[in-house]
Amino acid sequence: MACLVPPMYDARPIQRSKPQKTYPLLQDRYERICAISRCTSNSIYLYRDIAETTGRKVVLKKPNRAVLLDQAAYNTVGKLLAVEGRALSRINHSGVVSLISQGDGYLLLEYVHGKNLHDNKRSMSESAKLKAMLSLCDALSAVHAAGIIHRDIKPANVVYNVSSTLLDFGCAKGDGLITESESAENGGVTDYYGKAAFVGTIDFCPPENSSPSDVGKQSDLFSAGGVLYYLLTGNAPYECKDDDDIYGRKLVTENDIASKVPRKFLPVLSKALQPLPENRHQSAAEMKEDLLRIGL
Ligand SMILES: Nc1ncnc2c1ncn2[C@@H]1O[C@H](COP(=O)(O)OP(=O)(O)O)[C@@H](O)[C@H]1O
Ligand SMILES: [Mg+2]
Repeated sequence: MACLVPPMYDARPIQRSKPQKTYPLLQDRYERICAISRCTSNSIYLYRDIAETTGRKVVLKKPNRAVLLDQAAYNTVGKLLAVEGRALSRINHSGVVSLISQGDGYLLLEYVHGKNLHDNKRSMSESAKLKAMLSLCDALSAVHAAGIIHRDIKPANVVYNVSSTLLDFGCAKGDGLITESESAENGGVTDYYGKAAFVGTIDFCPPENSSPSDVGKQSDLFSAGGVLYYLLTGNAPYECKDDDDIYGRKLVTENDIASKVPRKFLPVLSKALQPLPENRHQSAAEMKEDLLRIGL
């Protein structure tokens, strides 16, 4: 297979003892500190801005090395990073990670201090969990007001430290997030995932995600309910976690929820996790009102 390594990338392994400069386009300004995360498509690195006297920390998100070596994979992951950058450039809110700059196959992001809600849940008090959800609602209001549906709200995509910051807009849907030429390449779709059977993360996506074009802001609110359920129980809101059976999963019922979470959370969770979008909260502000009724 053809080896595709864009000239900006340096595929050398990280040497933790000696931060090395990579990305010739960025090297005059940023120095690598460490890797933060690696998944099947992307790697996330922490960098220091050496051009600023403050040494501000920033985050580089780029395709991982396996993707860089596979042209087809790079084409897809690179486009999803471009979609993510375009979505972020439309939102200016303290609860959404800020985009510093965007280049061919990479994003440079504000460093968000804290832990994601997947790693953080055990150390959080009930009141911290509620604060995380209230600020997540504020972030979602800003996202939806910008005409964007996130489609991958889940604990690992929210960093918490006093309040929540939403990350990872690689699955975002919204007008103009893909260019006309990308759309033409993809058979005329206006959503990069246009004809995909499923978008997002199975454990937290709503039932209507089996038809991605039906996914709207109520779908993000379902997933936000899934985040709250996870923070309170340690589990996603589906009983079956069989990855091969997206459509046969059993969503938790009101009785299941009542038996697993403190009573005061039942009204907000039973509404957020309704199978039909029309029976859920219709806006993040409405979900926030329900959360505020719980009291800190
Ligand atoms: N800007 C950031 N500041 C701090 N941590 C981050 C930042 N971006 C990502 N992370 C960390 O890296 C993890 C993966 O990032 P994410 O954007 O979700 O990438 P992926 O597409 O691989 O899921 C997150 O769960 C979070 O812990
Ligand atoms: Mg993610």
